[in-house]
Amino acid sequence: STLDIRRKGEKCSATADWLLTQTAVRPLVGIVCGSGLGGLADLLKDQVAFNYRDIPNFPQSTVHGHAGRLVFGTLKGRPCVCMQGRFHLYEGYPIQKITLPMRIFKLMGVETVILTNAAGGLNQDYKVGDIMIIKDHLNMPGFAGNNPLAGPNDERFGVRFPCMSDAYDRELQQLAVDVGTELGYRDFLREGVYCVLGGPSFETIAECRMLHKLGADAVGMSTVHEVIVARHCGMRVFALSLITNQAVMDYDSEEKANHEEVLQTGKQRAEQLERLVSTMVTRIEYN
Ligand code: 6GU
Repeated sequence: STLDIRRKGEKCSATADWLLTQTAVRPLVGIVCGSGLGGLADLLKDQVAFNYRDIPNFPQSTVHGHAGRLVFGTLKGRPCVCMQGRFHLYEGYPIQKITLPMRIFKLMGVETVILTNAAGGLNQDYKVGDIMIIKDHLNMPGFAGNNPLAGPNDERFGVRFPCMSDAYDRELQQLAVDVGTELGYRDFLREGVYCVLGGPSFETIAECRMLHKLGADAVGMSTVHEVIVARHCGMRVFALSLITNQAVMDYDSEEKANHEEVLQTGKQRAEQLERLVSTMVTRIEYN
C-alpha cells in the first residue's frame, strides 16, 4: 500500500511528503503536459504551483515550450496535480530520474495518470492536428536495455516483471471516445500505437519507414517511460498524442521535422485537447 512505501525514507517519499506539507490538495489524478500543451494546468482552480527548481530532488526542465512547474488544484472539484513540462531521455538525465515524478504521484495518493505529448504522424491516414488516443506502445530504448525499471527492483512499488499488455486502461480509452464524440471531435480523434525513441535528433526517412512497418502510428520522445513506471506501481494510465507534424516518409518530400512546427500546431489544437482531458477528469470514477 501507499503507506508501506512511504515509511521507508527515500528521496521520492521525502519529496512527496514535502509537497503534501505545502498544499492542502490531495490529488487523485496526475496529469503530464507535453510540448505546447501546458495550458491544461491553467484550468486548475485554487492553484498552488511550484517551480521544479524549488522542489527537493526534482529534475529541472530544459526544453523550450516546457514551463517547469508542478501545479496543484481542482478541475470541477476533482483534486489534481499537473506537470507543466516533463523530462526526456535526450536531456541527459538517468532514465530513473525522468520517471521519478510518477512515484511521487503515487506516494501523494494519485490513482490515475493522464499523459499528453506532441508526436509525428506515421500512419498515412493521420493529419496534422489529429488527437490520437494511445492504445499501445513500442518502447525502442527498452529494446536496447534502457528501461526505467532496469536495476534492482523496488518491491515496495511493484513486481520485478510487470505486465504491459494492459498498460493503457481500456475504460479510459472508451471514456475518451465518448467524451470526444460529445464534444464533436470525431473527425480528428484517432486510436493508435505510439513509438518512443531517445531523440533529440528526429528520425531519418528510413527510420520512419521502418517504424511504420513495425506497427507504429505516431513517433515521439516521451511518455512510454512514465507509463511503465506508473503501471509498475499500479496507477491507471491514459495517454494522448497530438499529431503536430507528419513524419517524413519519402525522399521526394520537401518537409523537414522541426520543433517550431511542433509548438505551433500545439497552440492551434491545444484548447480542444485540454477540453477533452478536463471533461474526462470530471467523469473518472475513483476508488
Ligand atoms: Cl516527427 N519525431 C519525434 N521523435 N518526436 C516528435 C515528432 C517527430 N514530432 C513531434 N515530436
